[in-house]
Amino acid sequence: MKPQDGANLDIDDLTTTKNVRLEDLIDRESLKEVITSFVTLFGISVRVYSADGEKLADAVEQQDICKYLNELPDGRSACAATVATVKRTSPETMEDIVHPCFTGARYHIAALMYDGRRVGRIVLGPYLPAEVKEVPGSLMTAARDAQPDQLRQLLPRMPRARAETVHNVAEHMRGVLDLILFSGHKALLTSQMHLASVRESYRELQDKNHRLQDAYDKLRELDRLKSNFIATISHELRTPLTSIIGYSEMLGEGIAGSLTSDQLEFVNTIREKGEQLLTLIMSLLDLSKLESGSLALVKTDVDVCKTLDDVVSLLKPNATKADVQLAVDAPAEGLPTVRGDANRIRQAVLNLAENAVKFTPAGGSVTLSAKVGRQVMDEAEDDIGFALIAPARSVIEIRVADTGIGIPEHEREKIFDPFYQVDSSSTREYGGTGLGLSIVQRLMQAHDGKVSVEPNHPKGSVFILKIPIDVDP
Ligand SMILES: Nc1ncnc2c1ncn2[C@@H]1O[C@H](COP(=O)(O)OP(=O)(O)OP(=O)(O)O)[C@@H](O)[C@H]1O
Ligand SMILES: [Mg+2]
Repeated sequence: MKPQDGANLDIDDLTTTKNVRLEDLIDRESLKEVITSFVTLFGISVRVYSADGEKLADAVEQQDICKYLNELPDGRSACAATVATVKRTSPETMEDIVHPCFTGARYHIAALMYDGRRVGRIVLGPYLPAEVKEVPGSLMTAARDAQPDQLRQLLPRMPRARAETVHNVAEHMRGVLDLILFSGHKALLTSQMHLASVRESYRELQDKNHRLQDAYDKLRELDRLKSNFIATISHELRTPLTSIIGYSEMLGEGIAGSLTSDQLEFVNTIREKGEQLLTLIMSLLDLSKLESGSLALVKTDVDVCKTLDDVVSLLKPNATKADVQLAVDAPAEGLPTVRGDANRIRQAVLNLAENAVKFTPAGGSVTLSAKVGRQVMDEAEDDIGFALIAPARSVIEIRVADTGIGIPEHEREKIFDPFYQVDSSSTREYGGTGLGLSIVQRLMQAHDGKVSVEPNHPKGSVFILKIPIDVDP
């Protein structure tokens, strides 16, 4: 059977017998065994050919007379002519053909059919018909150089059989081969069906993959549009809002005349809320830029110790108001610099420190520390076995530790999602919009760094930033 690519095979293509080939369905070794058993039983040589004339198996008993004739020039050419004719003879129907040999022997040629189609043939012989008693004249003529005595002696050694018996043997052999063919075809059909169903599943899977890819591309496009939209809106909101804040500041300072205490309180509230809104808008703008990858980092060599000092001085008033101690713990000799955007790294540390102060009750403390550390370059960072073989790199590790309310373990992943806050009551109590940590996370990604959180002991949380150092110290 010709190899099929099977991609578009339907059930008719699969079950058709028009492509059935003897050589594909029959194992040659087994065929040889079968015909050898026939030769052992009946003593007549057997050859099996495919429809294209290729010999698939044979079990041949060399005849003494043939051997003798082949040593003589005349005998050899006569023999070759007979063999060539036998090879060419191929019955088209179930009607067997009997081909005579010049020795008086015969070849019996029977077609092998499968489902009404010729798939090969069996050649039985040579055998000597029972009725041949003497050396025939044809042998004497064809092998003039042979010795008549030798011929008389050797010819009777050839297996003798009646034509009818040979016909029956051929018929029987055809039956056996038919059975083998049938089971071979059945096995081939089963495997083809299996192959076709695997191909079909594969095609379906590919279809699904394409559809998924399309959906993913559309989502990405939508996401990009959303980020653009947020960026534009935020930008448009910022301008009028700065005017609102500016004018309420001027009013508060009495530039337009003195205000009553109630008026001053109202104006201050307008300014405070305006500032809150501005912070939110700026965060949204940052997030959308980070998500769309359009945030341009201005990279310099950043001194992390200075960053920590800056953050502490920015937050000191808030911390003092909240009665939270704020401290920096950095090596006196300083630290290697990291390559990054100083403002953005400060923003990340500030977001963490703001949270730490916000979520730490009065009397607690917040410590900002930095040191050189190692980071395993994989997700499986916590897997000790893996860490032994995984590549690692040098990083600056910034830790923001507080003694505050802490974060339950099951919330530690989610808090980095935009707008996620641990619970609504804490939101009401502490304020904010839930954007700070998602910005930190994206800022770290933009710096090829990482942010993680773990519990502090005995209480509180520790946020850790890891930013790679380009050249090892
Ligand atoms: N140090 C901390 N201690 C306890 N909970 C924290 C701490 N930092 C963050 N969280 C929890 O994670 C949530 C998300 O923090 P995130 O900074 O993203 O938002 P937010 O502080 O609520 O608002 P925003 O930062 O936008 O003003 C917080 O609402 C809080 O529930
Ligand atoms: Mg925050």
